[in-house]
Parts: sequence; structure tokens; C-alpha cells
Amino acid sequence: MKTIAIIATGGTIAGTGENGKTVAYHAGEIDVGQIIQSIPIINDIADIQSYQLFNVDSNEMDEKCWIILSNKINELVMDNSIDGVVVTHGTDLIEETAYFLNLTLNTSKPVVITGAMRPATATSADGPYNLYQAIALAVNDEARGKGVMVLFSNTIYSGRDVQKVNNYKIDAFDQKSFGCLGYMQDNDVYFFSNTFKKHTVHSIFAGIYQTLPQVGIAYFYGGADESILYQLAKNHQGIVIAGSGNGNYSQKWLETINELSKQGIVFVRASRVPLGIVFDDHIFDPLEHCIAANTLSAQKARILLMLALSKSYEVSQIKEFFREY
Ligand code: SIN
Repeated sequence: MKTIAIIATGGTIAGTGENGKTVAYHAGEIDVGQIIQSIPIINDIADIQSYQLFNVDSNEMDEKCWIILSNKINELVMDNSIDGVVVTHGTDLIEETAYFLNLTLNTSKPVVITGAMRPATATSADGPYNLYQAIALAVNDEARGKGVMVLFSNTIYSGRDVQKVNNYKIDAFDQKSFGCLGYMQDNDVYFFSNTFKKHTVHSIFAGIYQTLPQVGIAYFYGGADESILYQLAKNHQGIVIAGSGNGNYSQKWLETINELSKQGIVFVRASRVPLGIVFDDHIFDPLEHCIAANTLSAQKARILLMLALSKSYEVSQIKEFFREY
């Protein structure tokens, strides 16, 4: 039987509230051991080693937590007796953690993240079944080399593209226009697509981190004041714009971006529109200071820009990273 390391970080999957109810609960309350005990069928598919790394609402997950988590997994996967890793996580920031790990883990072993939309104390809590399927995915031979995956509601998503698309329903995730990597039926795995973007062992960012450069996000809207950009530039080395349409913004923002770029701030243009792709745009960015985020959301572009800035401040080099990752 394969051995899977479960790393618990908290979230609704470890949440508790009024017995049977789904609202007014606290995320990150119960220990991972208790969750595992509630799913005896796990013992039929894997030997488990569990680690309670954090027990927080995922909105508390930040760069420091991502580094601790990534470094811990990079350490665990060096152990030949560990065949795969499952991370339990709050759903709110699962997409950011998944992309960070997808870029920084130096392993082909399966790494699967899961969570729940209903707390552990709810009637028909979804966490135990998601965790069971995440473990079943992590022991599956086909899951090797796929990059970090998110398993939710019978569906396998890629860590690069997964995003939370519903803040209420159990089936809360999607993968933009790219569908999903596959489905599961109980513990059976059905893959039918792959990501062509670099990850894990092919990622230049795979490795151990201590700190990361600061990157902020500025949301553009009709009439948005450009002073937010000056404000962010005071303590960030990079700024991602969540622009309109093709990552667009006003002339005032363009002038400010050009000015701050000359001072060394690196800008990326993502879009507040959920679907599509942001290309280089010579009309909105004639000096080509702003790097197109490709199909990454602003929050994912921020992750890549933090890692990119840890390697280079050369705009042409970072543009290449945004094409490759
Ligand atoms: C969280 O992200 O920790 C709270 C919400 C959830 O897990 O669904």
C-alpha cells in the first residue's frame, strides 16, 4: 500500500458550527486526525502520515505560510517512503496556494489539494468525501508528473488554472475555459487533459525560499484614482493591474505606470474579466512597460510576479516567464 502525507492547513474542511447547520461556523477548528478518523475507508487505499502545519481560515494564508508549506512538502517528497502528498486547505485561497506550489515544488510525486464548502459539523459535509478522493488521486500512478492538482466535487483541476467560481455551492471550482484535468468516480480516476504550462520539476522556481519580493494588486474601475499606484509603489517591487477588458486602464493610469516603471516598479496587466487572455497591447501600453498576464487571473499573476522578481527585474525575461508558466 502506498503512503500519503496529509498536510492540514485549516479551512472549512476543519470548520465547526451548530450541529447539522452549514452557516455561521468557524473555519480551521478541528484537528486533521479527527477528520481522518471520520473516513475509515481511507485505510483501504493508503497508509497515512498526517501533519497539522496550520489550522487557519485560508484568508490568513500569506507568502510566509506558502513558503513554510512549500518548503515542508519539498522536504517530505525527498523521503522515499512518501508516495504522494495531500493538502487540506480553505477554499477561499486554494487557487493561490495551488499555483504557488505548482511553481515551487521540485517533485513529480502527486500533490493534491482539497477542502470543503460545508463545515465538518454540517449534515452532508463535503470535506470527508473530497479528502477520500484526494487521497485516491494521490495514490494513482497516472497522477505522477501532472503538477499540483486540486480535487473538488469529483473533479480534478490543474493548480495553474483552478479558480473558485461559486462562493455558495458545493461545486465551487472551475478551470476557466480549459474544462478540467479529469473526473473521479469514488476512487477511480479518469484523466482526459493536461496543462502545457511548465510546473514542478520543469519550473525554474522550484526550490526552497526564505522571503519573496512584495507584489500588490490594483483594481481598475471607471474613474479609478491613479494615486493607488503611487501608494502601492511605496512598499512593493511589483504591481499587477486587474484591468478592464484586455487588461486595460485609463490614460492617467498609463502615464503613472510609465512614470513608476522608470523608477523600477515592474507592472503586469491581468484582467478583471474572468475568461479570455490578455495579450501585449501597443495601444494601451505603447512603451511596453506592462507585462501581459496571459490567462492568469490577477491573484495568480501576482504569485508568478513574486517568484519572477526573485530571479530577475528584466522586463523581457519576466515576459518570457509569463508565456511559459
Ligand atoms: C477558508 O477559505 O478557509 C474559508 C472558506 C472555505 O474553506 O470554504
